Amino acid sequence: MSKQINHTLSHKLQSRADRGLLRKLRTGDGLVDLCSNDYLGLARDEKFKLLLLRLTVDFPDDMTGATGSRLLAGNTQIAEGVEAEIAKIHKAEAGLIFNSGYDANLGLFGCIADEGDTILYDELVHASIHDGLKLSKANNIAFKHNDLGDLEEKLKQTHGQVFVSVESVYSMDGDFALLDEIAVLCELHNAALIVDEAHATGFVGETGLGLVNHLGIEDKCFARLHTFGKALASHGAIILGSNTLRNYLTNYARPFIYSTALPPHAYRQALAAYWYMLGNHQKIEQLYSLINYYREKTKGLPYQVLDSPSAIQGIVVPGNAEVRALAQKLEEKGFDTRPIVSPTIPKGAERIRICLHSFNTTAEIDRLITELK
Ligand SMILES: Cc1ncc(COP(=O)(O)O)c(C=O)c1O
Repeated sequence: MSKQINHTLSHKLQSRADRGLLRKLRTGDGLVDLCSNDYLGLARDEKFKLLLLRLTVDFPDDMTGATGSRLLAGNTQIAEGVEAEIAKIHKAEAGLIFNSGYDANLGLFGCIADEGDTILYDELVHASIHDGLKLSKANNIAFKHNDLGDLEEKLKQTHGQVFVSVESVYSMDGDFALLDEIAVLCELHNAALIVDEAHATGFVGETGLGLVNHLGIEDKCFARLHTFGKALASHGAIILGSNTLRNYLTNYARPFIYSTALPPHAYRQALAAYWYMLGNHQKIEQLYSLINYYREKTKGLPYQVLDSPSAIQGIVVPGNAEVRALAQKLEEKGFDTRPIVSPTIPKGAERIRICLHSFNTTAEIDRLITELK
């Protein structure tokens, strides 16, 4: 029987390969990192590593694992304290930590709306939101990317409780949501705004706290998501909102209820990463200076370059085979970049996705440009 199933699986994999879509695990060892989400270089920062070692030594009574879900044996004063502290840092009433951003979106979108309600979402939101929406009983409707007219049109036609889902920084195009304007529209149409700050955490705003804090519109958001696994070089994610939202998620968000919680050191690390980020503004300044350098230098390239103000950049190379070939060439020259192919993005918009970091150098950018030319 298993031979037959393996045969079917191989057949499906071959079909993916024939379409140029086969995913493979690989490492970027020894290459210039233009791919990871370690925007501030915290994951490789010696001082940050020492800080974490000290935390382990200073709290020898911490258990090594959570030993259960938060609703069973896995809750601790550390978990609750860190949630309260991070919520305070972001000027939110409360927060609930999930094991990952994926879990958080699955949990939130899977339970927040009922039959008869509507969730309007930007067409470019992340797969984790799409997967959460699949679990929802609400009416889920996409609006055109960052298109205020289309959003307003759809807001006028909706029924029940309405939610609007956007990201601060879009993970494929690197552009920012028109968040101020979207928040006004939500207020006008009595819709609850949900903002995913996964890629904004760490480098949007002078202190890296994200777009909502930067704009000062905390009270206009119903829920916000910050992930710890990207610029904060840790693991897990927090949903910020009211105490009622926290209680609701504790009761209805299935990835929270039915999964073993993070171990105590993971909560300590997430909070330590916040402190470290808040005390190291120069990393954010270094990153923006590199973004500006890259934007200036890519002006003369024989490719369409995405107009992105963030650490996520893109060079459009139409065609799956073509973009893969270029990524392969860049790898041979020592750069870790990844091709983004269709149907992840629309046909013709295939691209090399480039993530910039505070630790990348202008010399690396110069070399990249030379290779691209
Ligand atoms: C916008 C967005 N939300 C959520 C997630 C999931 O976060 P995590 O990696 O912590 O599961 C990602 C991951 O790439 C993301 O890009």
